[in-house]
Formats: sequence, structure tokens, C-alpha cells
Amino acid sequence: MNVPFLDLKAQHAPIKADILAAWTDILDNAGFVGGKYVTGLESGLTAACGSAHACAVSNGTEALVLAMRALGVGPGDEVIIPGNTFIATAEGVSLCGATPVFVDCLPDTWNLDPAAIGPAVTPRTKGVIGVHLYGQPFDVDGCQAVCDKHGLWLMEDNAQGILATYKGKPTGGLARVSATSFYPGKNLGACGEGGAVMTNDAALDAGVRKLREHGQAAKYYHDVVGTNGRLASVQAAALQVKLPHLPNWTAARRRNASLYLERLQGTPGVRLPAVAPWADPVWHLFVIHVANRDAVLAALQAAGVGAALHYPVPCHLQKAYSHLGYAKGSLPNAEYNASHCLSLPMFPELTEAQISFVCDQVRAVVQGAA
Ligand SMILES: Cc1ncc(COP(=O)(O)O)c(C=O)c1O
Repeated sequence: MNVPFLDLKAQHAPIKADILAAWTDILDNAGFVGGKYVTGLESGLTAACGSAHACAVSNGTEALVLAMRALGVGPGDEVIIPGNTFIATAEGVSLCGATPVFVDCLPDTWNLDPAAIGPAVTPRTKGVIGVHLYGQPFDVDGCQAVCDKHGLWLMEDNAQGILATYKGKPTGGLARVSATSFYPGKNLGACGEGGAVMTNDAALDAGVRKLREHGQAAKYYHDVVGTNGRLASVQAAALQVKLPHLPNWTAARRRNASLYLERLQGTPGVRLPAVAPWADPVWHLFVIHVANRDAVLAALQAAGVGAALHYPVPCHLQKAYSHLGYAKGSLPNAEYNASHCLSLPMFPELTEAQISFVCDQVRAVVQGAA
């Protein structure tokens, strides 16, 4: 048996006709930019994520940049982020001309440690970005309390967390602003690139919308230097077709995670993901921790299991950020995660037989590598 890490063809087969019908409508009406599919997606997102406003943008990295620029982040500013995230969280800060300040994660959920924020605050700090990593909500209240104490804003990087709940409320509408990604492999993925900024603050939403449209308030009158951050209508249409399926796809991910947890429970040498008491994760990734990780990864791949790494090098030790001077050992939990994490196949259409096969291979390989 071969089990892929992700099977997007399986996701698209049952909804292909609906996507093609929407794309035909766009082609027939030459409605390639903006229009009903973009506004329809935006209102669908506000309903799904419980935020008052959603602004669709060209990708998740741009969502981070536009949200921060609308908050006034610029050169000389610092933004605190976890070292344990996909590089885009850091790039968002850098692309605003500001400096990312990396802090450590908790050693169980691998999410931002609220206690790590305070010691990293300086007079230049403007805000904090927490990441709902792997689809599990970070400790929003814990981080918000530290932000309030220091007069900082909190942002959610919700690229991996859409439809997850924190204390019963959906992520994406919990903090001052959130940024999400519709990269194809995300839980809600476009047929190309996409992203969104969500907020309950009408003025902030207006600021993001202006930046998305070349900084213009009215056509050809530009108040600020903006950009073209628009989402293509064909992507909005595909996402609008997919959004109503997301609750079922999320339920399937949760079922798959339960099967993994049940079948790998008690396996010597395998540390299973921990779920925080406030969290109902959406399992964007199912990440276990093992010793001899690289050998286990290679053996699993050779046995037909599409395992992967998220992520092998934490942001603070990436070459791109070497100028910031973080040494190995500066964020021990993030570094432990990077050297022991292993992502097993996870997507809604994964079958029970595929999960059993993956678990059998994990048991055999981990025993062999011990
Ligand atoms: C945590 C996180 N933040 C930001 C991004 C950036 O999104 P995009 O790839 O759409 O630019 C991603 C995904 O790629 C991500 O996983």
C-alpha cells in the first residue's frame, strides 16, 4: 500500500462540476477581479470564523503583511512571534520593514508560550503573533493578558487553524486581527493561492482594504502606498464552493486523528500530540515525536508512508535570519520540536485501512530504529 501525505485529487473529484460551473460563469461574464465571488466568500468567512469583517487577499503571507501594515507596523518596530512556525509568519514582519523577535513554544502543544512574551518586550515592540500551529489553538487568553499588560496588539496566524475552536469559539475572530492562508494544502485550500484578513475592527478592515487596492480611497486617488493584494475571482469561486464542505472535512480530520491516537496509544518510542484543555483542533497536521527522526522518516517513506516534516529548522535558526544572531539552544522547545517532529498523512478522505497501514508501519519502523 502507498499512503500519500495529502490527496487533493480525492477532495476535488466530488466538487469538480460545481467549481467548473462557477469558473464558466466568471469566464462568460469576464468577471475576473472582485465581484460576487469575492464578496460572497468574504461573508461566508465572517459567518464561519465569527469575525465581523473578512477581507480576501492574494495569499496568506500578504494577509500577514497587510494586517500589520494596517496596524502601522514599519521600520524600527519589533513583533514577537514563535520560533516554531512556518517562515511566512516571520516574513510578514520582515516585509513590513520590522524585526521579528522569536520566542519559545510550550513543550507539549508546541504553541507560543505566553510566559516567553514578557521578557522579549522592548520599547520597540508593537505586537505579538500567535500561530494556531498544526490546527490547534494557542493560549489566546494567556497571550492577550501579557499583551494588555504591555499595551501590545495580538494577532492570530490562523493559516493552519480555520474552524478550530478555542473555549468553544472559532479561531480567526479571537484577537485584534487574524491572517489566514488558502494555499491548496490548507484545510480550506484554493486551486492556487489565496488568503484573508479578519477582524472585528471596522477601521482596521477599511485600512486593509485600502492597502489591498493600491492604497486608493477612490479610483485613482491614492492616500497611502498600497499594493495589489487582491484575491483572483476564480480562487474566490473555488473557495466559495469548498467552504460549505469544510465542517464535514473537519469532522473527518477529527475522526482520523482519533483513530491515530487510539491505534498508536502506548507505542514505545512514539510521543503522541497533546490537546490543550481549551482546544478543539482541526488537525491540519498530525504530528508525532520520535527519536532518530530522520531515520524513521526515511524508513516510513521507503515503506510507502508519505510522512513529512513541519518544520525541520525553526525560524530563528534559518540562514535567512542569521543576522539576528540567535544561537542554537536559544529556544530549546522549538529546537526539540524541529528535530523530533514527524507529520503523518492527514486529509479528510484518508480511509481507516490507510490509517491502520500507517500505524503498523510506524510501530515496525520505530521498533527497528530503537
Ligand atoms: C503558519 C502559516 N502562516 C502563514 C502561511 C503563509 O501562507 P501562504 O503560503 O498562503 O502565503 C502559512 C502557509 O503557507 C502557514 O502555514
